[in-house]
Amino acid sequence: MYKIIASRMIVPNMHILTIEAPVIARQVQAGQFIILRAEEEGERIPLSVSDWDRARGTITTIFMNIGSTTSRLSQLASGSFIPTVVGPLGNASEIEHFGTVLLIGGCYGIGSLYPVARAMKEKGNRVLVVIEARSSYLFFWEDRYRVLVDKLLHITRDGSKGLKGHIGRIPEILTALDEPVHRVLINGCTFCLKRGSDATRELGIKTVVDLNPIMIDGTGMCGVCRVSVGGMTKFACVQGPEFDGHEVDWAELAQRRKSYMAEEVIPLRTSKCEEHAHQSEEVS
Ligand SMILES: Cc1cc2nc3c(=O)[nH]c(=O)nc-3n(C[C@H](O)[C@H](O)[C@H](O)COP(=O)(O)OP(=O)(O)OC[C@H]3O[C@@H](n4cnc5c(N)ncnc54)[C@H](O)[C@@H]3O)c2cc1C
Ligand code: FES
Repeated sequence: MYKIIASRMIVPNMHILTIEAPVIARQVQAGQFIILRAEEEGERIPLSVSDWDRARGTITTIFMNIGSTTSRLSQLASGSFIPTVVGPLGNASEIEHFGTVLLIGGCYGIGSLYPVARAMKEKGNRVLVVIEARSSYLFFWEDRYRVLVDKLLHITRDGSKGLKGHIGRIPEILTALDEPVHRVLINGCTFCLKRGSDATRELGIKTVVDLNPIMIDGTGMCGVCRVSVGGMTKFACVQGPEFDGHEVDWAELAQRRKSYMAEEVIPLRTSKCEEHAHQSEEVS
């Protein structure tokens, strides 16, 4: 059993969870993820590791309450236990001295991008970060980024902070920056990853995305996380989750992510959470 050290809502519908998992905390690297179960009979869900404390043996993840398992997880209080935490899984982010890197994070990606920003900085890169949300009240960890990176920029759908719009405005940000950017890395929902990759394709800037297909075992056994990248089949859990955003078959990924939508909405309907069920259908 794994003890929950801290659990709270950080901004509406987004939760921060710190779990005692010393073995994972000792080994985890930026860009890796865990798979956990919120209860004994529950499904396994992948979550990125957004921070860790090797000395205390804890890992922290930021998750969006989007469906049945994340809803259950959000109800667990500090001091309670969950039955399964497996990891660290997936490959670590490719961290080198690239020069200037632009890191873009939307929704939970604002959290999972943080260790990547830290590692990029430690390698001597100039690190520019763009965080994206529907509105300014949905931003978190801005204080952490401000002291870590060279520049922090915002995009909001409603224009309440930074540029108004969505990640499709990245070319304007790059023009305004007026400095060469050698690599872009995007972390967040599939919409964000695709729109960001579309936006940088014509600019010819290498763009890496953190893919989040449906996963089951996370160790290359089941094939559920299959994606097509550059015309080749890849298993995101063991060959990713980072891939070249300009080579991902986004239409196929979107289609595969909808495979269990009808089943995913059932627990929400049966728990009489109709409004949440509608929201989930819209997200997908
Ligand atoms: C490698 C990896 C890392 C991830 N890291 C994080 C993280 O750090 N924080 C976080 O909040 N989520 C993360 N996710 C996504 C997370 O695993 C899903 O949101 C979660 O499985 C949903 O479980 P659920 O039972 O609550 O919702 P479900 O009942 O499974 O789904 C509810 C609704 O959400 C949609 N949905 C399912 N999966 C996703 C997804 N990947 N992205 C967007 N919508 C989805 C479904 O289509 C459905 O409509 C990651 C996924 C992967 C593959
Ligand atoms: S999740 Fe099963 S092969 Fe990747």
